[in-house]
Amino acid sequence: MKPIRLVTAALAAMALSSPLALAAAASPAPTGDLTPGHAKKDTLRWVAPKGFYIGTAAAGGGHHEEQPYPDPFTKDLEYRGVLAAEFGSVSAENQMKWEYIHPEQGRYNFGMADAIVKFAQHNRQAVRGHTLLWHSQNPEWLEQGDFTADELRAILRDHITTVVGRYKGRIQQWDVANEIFDDSGNLRTTDNIWIRELGPGIIADAFRWAHQADPRAKLFFNDYNVESVNAKSNAYYTLIKDLRAQGVPVHGFSAQAHLSTRYGFPGDLETNLKRFADLGLGTAITELDVRMDLPADGVPTAEMLAKQADYYRQTLTACLNVKGCNSFTIWGFTDKYSWVPVFFTGQGAATVMWEDFTRKPAYHALQCTLAKASADRGQHHPHLPACAK
Ligand code: XIL
Repeated sequence: MKPIRLVTAALAAMALSSPLALAAAASPAPTGDLTPGHAKKDTLRWVAPKGFYIGTAAAGGGHHEEQPYPDPFTKDLEYRGVLAAEFGSVSAENQMKWEYIHPEQGRYNFGMADAIVKFAQHNRQAVRGHTLLWHSQNPEWLEQGDFTADELRAILRDHITTVVGRYKGRIQQWDVANEIFDDSGNLRTTDNIWIRELGPGIIADAFRWAHQADPRAKLFFNDYNVESVNAKSNAYYTLIKDLRAQGVPVHGFSAQAHLSTRYGFPGDLETNLKRFADLGLGTAITELDVRMDLPADGVPTAEMLAKQADYYRQTLTACLNVKGCNSFTIWGFTDKYSWVPVFFTGQGAATVMWEDFTRKPAYHALQCTLAKASADRGQHHPHLPACAK
């Protein structure tokens, strides 16, 4: 049964001797209802309005490789069950990034990405592709290689054509360019190999190549800290307006939304998304999680969980209120596999389910908000106990 596995994982985590792992291990699995036992009608995807995609990252690669558990997406059957039952869209958390899909020059490794796309098709889920032009998680052969500008350009073109082409017709949205600006709104001209070596014009080319390879996929710019109207989101606004005036196939702007209860909620999220929608773009929330500073015992208080639920609710409401925001993805759905404790010291509990897949207040906040939006659109879901009050 579950508790034994949790204990095993906890012991393995302790063996790694991270204080955070200890905190996570100490955190009990508060009571709640278990999704796998739930009726089909009591899930997120079921209550979502028609045409609205409620998604999650499919856990695998990246930080998971350093953890004492096998690959979640391929090995954890309970995880896969919840992934299929709850979500209408999946994103590759790491499996389509350069270091995984293109590990050596001239050699692609499609195994994990193929598995995700196949799983999604089987479960009638949309797929978000992530990502093609980024400064991070690139293979060493690329970052350390000694290439001329012409060679690099050919490498990127081949990559985009090959990867986007392989999944043609099966990817709803591609994060073509990820995190190309810093927080001040300056292009990453030093750490992004493509912009550094080839100049900013390469961004438009990436979108053109992706569009050629799959004309129906919606092509996005994606970044963090762009939830509000600020220097960084302004930089995207200006760039995208400019590219579209030139006829470059840019279709969307998305906010990752890695939020923390340490900071206030970005109250102008809806206003910000709306200005991009007014340019004729699709918008999306692509990587939502809401981390918090964990107390010494590792267990969030009811108040902390309520605040977190409120951030989830507000983010979803903002998207639902903006025309053309029809894709809403959380960056993992269970604390069991979240990237947060690994990347943000002392923080965690960022997802909508505990490690044993029981539901947190944040889960119910999403479910109720989706159900209400459906009702507002004339699609009723009468059998929802959590939303009855
Ligand atoms: C993260 C993954 O969740 C981790 O597994 C990995 O170790 C690092 O990357 N912005 C992004 C995502 O665009 O790709 C990142 O994902 C989180 C921040």
